[in-house]
Amino acid sequence: MKEREHFGSRAAVIMALAGSAIGLGNIWRFPYMVGEHGGAAFIIVYLAASLFLALPIFFAESIIGRSGGSNTYGSMQKLAPGTGWKWLGLLTIISPIIILSYYSVVGGWSVEYLFKALAFDFSGSDARIEGFFGRFISSVWEPIIAHTVFIGAVAGVVLGGVKKGIEKFTKITMPLLFFLILVLVVYSLLLPGAGEGVRYLVKPDFSKLDVQAVAAAMGQAFFSLSLGVGTVLTYASYMKADENIFASGLGTAAADLFFAVLAGFAIMPAVFAAGIAPGAGPGLVFETLPYIFNHMSLWASWVGALVAIVFFFTILVAALTSAISIMEVGVAYLAEEKGRSRKKAVLEITLFAWVVGVLCSLSFGPLAGVQLLGNSIFDFLDKLCSNWLLPLGGLLFTLFVGWKMSKASVREEFTNKGKRNTRVFGLVYFLMRFVAPIGIVIVFFTNLLL
Ligand code: PFF
Repeated sequence: MKEREHFGSRAAVIMALAGSAIGLGNIWRFPYMVGEHGGAAFIIVYLAASLFLALPIFFAESIIGRSGGSNTYGSMQKLAPGTGWKWLGLLTIISPIIILSYYSVVGGWSVEYLFKALAFDFSGSDARIEGFFGRFISSVWEPIIAHTVFIGAVAGVVLGGVKKGIEKFTKITMPLLFFLILVLVVYSLLLPGAGEGVRYLVKPDFSKLDVQAVAAAMGQAFFSLSLGVGTVLTYASYMKADENIFASGLGTAAADLFFAVLAGFAIMPAVFAAGIAPGAGPGLVFETLPYIFNHMSLWASWVGALVAIVFFFTILVAALTSAISIMEVGVAYLAEEKGRSRKKAVLEITLFAWVVGVLCSLSFGPLAGVQLLGNSIFDFLDKLCSNWLLPLGGLLFTLFVGWKMSKASVREEFTNKGKRNTRVFGLVYFLMRFVAPIGIVIVFFTNLLL
């Protein structure tokens, strides 16, 4: 068999993992979740969920990936040969294709919005902006073309391989993303009336913190760290043997949290400054922000137009690095288990996800009437993944590490044969064995009952 590729350095590992984690979940989903569920109160629960629930699963996936040294299916096969655990490997082939398909549709929206921003279409008369989002997503061709461009770009990077594709792309784009989001935060904070939004983000309103909000915070922590799909597992399988699993996990989670909070500070002050309700839901970024960029220009109207370009470029790049990691899960499987060349594997996954994505896209327009358990195709697939498949995958990964693998081998992998992180191992092991599984089961039940 061909020698497997590896990431070149610790920095490369963290950039790739952070590239996967930081995406639409941080810029599009997190701010509207915060807006819907009580501002700072939600952020506090989200922090706790990330630390005690999501991070242990991140470690569990890393441990399986690095010790299995293969794709999800291959790693499970290697660590528990001849058992039913390999089916978990298969689950994580199906989930990525589904996620990739609808993620790419939203990624396509950011492609369209970037082009609009570049053409200065969001400046001038409000008539052009009003209702644009609804018109655009319900049309047939435009969103499909945008989705095609997006998934094509993703395929292009994945085709380059681990080092020349993923590592190279994320190493350039991730620092850029942090720089751009900082620019956006500064702009947003300078707007007159921004203070109200800042207060909203730092002053908790615990009255809005119901069970639903807690379940949403946990789900968000999961989605945001790309867990339960095999992404972390696959990337960890490209780590070198002496790589520090604890440090790369902490680094990734810190970068992800920091970015989510920065995105909150980039968006909420602007939303409040424009006097718009923060609980606008999923349309917050695509409907509300263009309006804000048009009206809330500092100094001159071109500043708002420029900020719109920076903003949609940031979303696009963040979405790309995440989608790349999702595609790599399936590509690694096809290449290693089914003997496909990387090119053929990329082509197959892209085609599959493209077709499902087209259906998702049409479900905002001509296929709006098609209902799956009371949801449109897009909503159904999103809910299926975020509420069920991701937590299920995460639960099984953490159960595998906590209860199936021997403690000695988990310890050896986590501590690099007793060389580091020996002091935190006990706590992490306890979290992986008990806290994370119980937490996920609670999320399941809340989702089931609500
Ligand atoms: N973490 C990504 C985000 O926050 O946008 C989404 C994601 C990527 C989910 C990869 C799952 C995954 F495997």
